[in-house]
Amino acid sequence: MNFKVKKGKGVRGDITIPGDKSISHRSIMCASLAEGKSKIYGFLEGEDCLATKLAFQDMGVNFETNIDEITVHGSGLYGLKEPKKEINLGNSGTSIRLLSGILSGQKFSSTLKGDESLSSRPMDRIIEPLCLMGANIKSQNSGRPPLEIGKSDMLNSINYELPVASAQVKSCILFASLYSEGKTIVREKQTTRNHTEIMFKQFGVPLSIRDADYGRDIEMYTPSSLKSTEIDIPGDFSSAAFFILAALIIPNSNLTIKNVGMNETRTALLNAFQEMGAEIDITNKRGEFEPRADLNVKFSKLKGINLDTKLVPNLIDELPALFIAAAMSSGSTAVRDAEELRHKESDRLEAMGDVLGSLGVDFNMFQDGINISGVDDNKALSPFERVRINSFGDHRIAMSSAIACSLLDQDSLVINTDNVNTSFPTFLKIANQVGLDISLEKSS
Ligand code: S3P
Repeated sequence: MNFKVKKGKGVRGDITIPGDKSISHRSIMCASLAEGKSKIYGFLEGEDCLATKLAFQDMGVNFETNIDEITVHGSGLYGLKEPKKEINLGNSGTSIRLLSGILSGQKFSSTLKGDESLSSRPMDRIIEPLCLMGANIKSQNSGRPPLEIGKSDMLNSINYELPVASAQVKSCILFASLYSEGKTIVREKQTTRNHTEIMFKQFGVPLSIRDADYGRDIEMYTPSSLKSTEIDIPGDFSSAAFFILAALIIPNSNLTIKNVGMNETRTALLNAFQEMGAEIDITNKRGEFEPRADLNVKFSKLKGINLDTKLVPNLIDELPALFIAAAMSSGSTAVRDAEELRHKESDRLEAMGDVLGSLGVDFNMFQDGINISGVDDNKALSPFERVRINSFGDHRIAMSSAIACSLLDQDSLVINTDNVNTSFPTFLKIANQVGLDISLEKSS
């Protein structure tokens, strides 16, 4: 399907955003491995998280799903059953990387595969540490999925410094460490999202964090079991980012987004936007493990910035939205040290170059980033011809582009948008509810 986008009005009103994708994956994994009954509130019913849930169903875990609540009958650390067939994780990098950690410690073998995009993403970053832990994991496709994981009796714990700033790699090792002997230490030089650490504490896993001048060490001992608990998932900050963007760049906007996850390893986009001059009020901050708040965002005159490279891991998924905001700012914006963008659901630097080009925005591309020249004085985007954007099948490229196209006087098209369902199945509904005009059109 494609998105047909007409000029939008300012976005206004109060909205809530579906549950956080990263936390939803982890909640299914931890609750499945826990003893007894856990409850999950606010689970994201997107294709990626449903792929994780189905994988555990295929390994014998029982779920009772009600409107906004899932009861998980955990199998315990050693109660998963051998899946009858290959596990298909669709488009989901988080599912395949975190599950590889769990499956490396099982007494049965398994095979993990995914769609075309997932089959082109690097897995050597998890294969290396898992092999150091004694796992028997192989790629059939030069370091990419499918992955074959052999059975194991017990893994070794490791002391590992992450070569890339990746929460998926860190979390893969922490999940594998549920099945290792002794103390595992994962050292990260740049802080990445810490949802696994927070959730492990909720499920009673002995884990401590040591901050140091080189970054932080996460130390973990093997637990004898995970204790069932209740998990309340806030709205996904990364999905909220598209509506924060819309409110900032579309004149006459005034939007309140309620119950947004405010874990500070995820919200660096707010720091960047505030430095650009964004009017964003954060109120009603609450929540014990995963903090949340309400955000009020108003149309703002933005100016370009040199993004502090330290912020990159904490806004990595929001960079497509930041690039669109940069295009609508006065002056230029520089983002460097972001080569990881090339290893996401698409090569997001390449894809966003294409989007900005179609919109008539000037930019310079580098291997690890981009310089974007904003349009003068927030006037208008001036594409040369009718805009037809290729999302490269990437949900975040599709949604950022749809917001940008809402500024154009003429109708435009974002093609190949089915993957929006991986992370934000209600995107269109909410977009139209707040004043945008985006409809689905069959691909020809
Ligand atoms: C995620 C970590 C990030 C992020 C992805 C979700 C997670 O990936 O881009 O959308 O849930 O751990 P990397 O670990 O590859 O940076």
